[in-house]
Amino acid sequence: MTRKRSKWSSQFQDKNGVQLVEESADKYNGVPSMCLFFGSHYKFHVLTVLAVAAIGIAVAVFITNFKILSIFKIYVQLNHIDDGFVKEDAIKMSQVLQGTSGDSNIVQLSHKAENQESFLSQGGGNFQKLSCSGKQKGSCGKVDKRQKLSLQEFHNRYDGKWPVIVTDVMSSWPAINWTADFFKNKYGKRRVTMTTFANSVKSGFSVPLKIFLEHLHMSSPRAWTYLQDEMFLIQHPELREDVLQTVYMEEDLFKLLPSAVRPWDCMLLWGTAHSRSSLHIDPYNWTGTNAVISGHKLWKLLPPGQDNLLSVRPGMRCGFPLECVKYNSDLDLFDPAQQDRHTQLKFLEAEQGPGEIIFIPPGWFHQAYNEVPTLAVSGQMMNSNNYHIVLEEIFKGGSLKRSSLPENFGLMTPREAVAAMAARISQHVLEEGVRRTEEAIQQLYMPQP
Ligand SMILES: *[C@@H]1O[C@H](CO)[C@@H](O)[C@H](O)[C@H]1NC(C)=O
Ligand SMILES: *[C@@H]1O[C@H](CO)[C@@H](O)[C@H](O)[C@H]1NC(C)=O
Repeated sequence: MTRKRSKWSSQFQDKNGVQLVEESADKYNGVPSMCLFFGSHYKFHVLTVLAVAAIGIAVAVFITNFKILSIFKIYVQLNHIDDGFVKEDAIKMSQVLQGTSGDSNIVQLSHKAENQESFLSQGGGNFQKLSCSGKQKGSCGKVDKRQKLSLQEFHNRYDGKWPVIVTDVMSSWPAINWTADFFKNKYGKRRVTMTTFANSVKSGFSVPLKIFLEHLHMSSPRAWTYLQDEMFLIQHPELREDVLQTVYMEEDLFKLLPSAVRPWDCMLLWGTAHSRSSLHIDPYNWTGTNAVISGHKLWKLLPPGQDNLLSVRPGMRCGFPLECVKYNSDLDLFDPAQQDRHTQLKFLEAEQGPGEIIFIPPGWFHQAYNEVPTLAVSGQMMNSNNYHIVLEEIFKGGSLKRSSLPENFGLMTPREAVAAMAARISQHVLEEGVRRTEEAIQQLYMPQP
């Protein structure tokens, strides 16, 4: 099977709106199930075949229940979610689907392979922090859980440096009362974008929310679904309002970016049990936030400086109009079968329940795992504590030249520096941002039969 390096082609996807399949099994040292589907010549133990068949049937039942109305084009930003290995010559998830459902109108999300200039991973172990620095490998313990955390202590001890879970800021969020029934009744027909993982293949789809929710309790360690939608809440301001800011997020330098290239800042995440993110760093190395509304997440967070242990593919790009480098690892830290692949890593662990929000510092690889069906929203921060890193990553992305900045850039305050950068984003990049956003919205609101 050939393997290709690739990336998501754009902030949203390609106009012809078809296909996208990644995450091949061979990366995981030959998980056999996919090979059954893809006809490779693996020798199976009878029990393995039976087990795979059972999973296959479960997946087939799951999939035939997806009655998708029509193929339409959808544009989605899945960049910091998915990995980019494409198996263009492999049988796609769509064919698995077609084999099991007569009418395969499920919309798969597309992306193109592109060669990008490679970057040198910095891998510098400039990170010093008590609880992990002495350790050679393994778990460095748990992420702190804090309440009544003063803004000052947040800035001094955690923000931009060390992860923290804050347990007492979400009780005032109306979103804390969101339920599956509420979404099913009010928004059931709205399409959402989701990832499925089955037979060791990860695929992107767009389905009505109702259909996703009807299958929320169907999953297994090797077949799960994850709704990851960056536009849904933004497109529904009445829901966006239910997710409040916290005092820790008040300084928001992303606001200084023209809206055309400002990242969407409130992503709806709803995963079945066993669903998980990839092991990744967020775009522009921003500080990530993730607020659990219901369910339970497990986290693994890696202090920076371990890139060399993570098989990070060089040359990956986010595909945003304002480009950035994408740091994604192939490792799945929650797959027991992969345990011997990451014995050298040091990481922090966290368990996060409803009403708890986690802050993930820039440059920390992280992976989240939903133990039970879990609803959460994620966001991001650029502020005085990390803007220099975010700007650095924007320059690395290449849409903006460092040399275009004024000479006194180094003397500017964070606000001035970000504003100066924002003012130099080219018309072309801005127009591209506007165009893609308009297309995305149009496609979401006016699906064509
Ligand atoms: C959640 O619902 C309960 C019960 O209806 C209500 O008392 C509470 O105020 C709601 N919480 C928020 C933050 O809206
Ligand atoms: C962003 O994070 C990656 C991974 O840790 C790191 O290699 C890179 O140097 C970081 N960028 C900056 C500007 O610190």
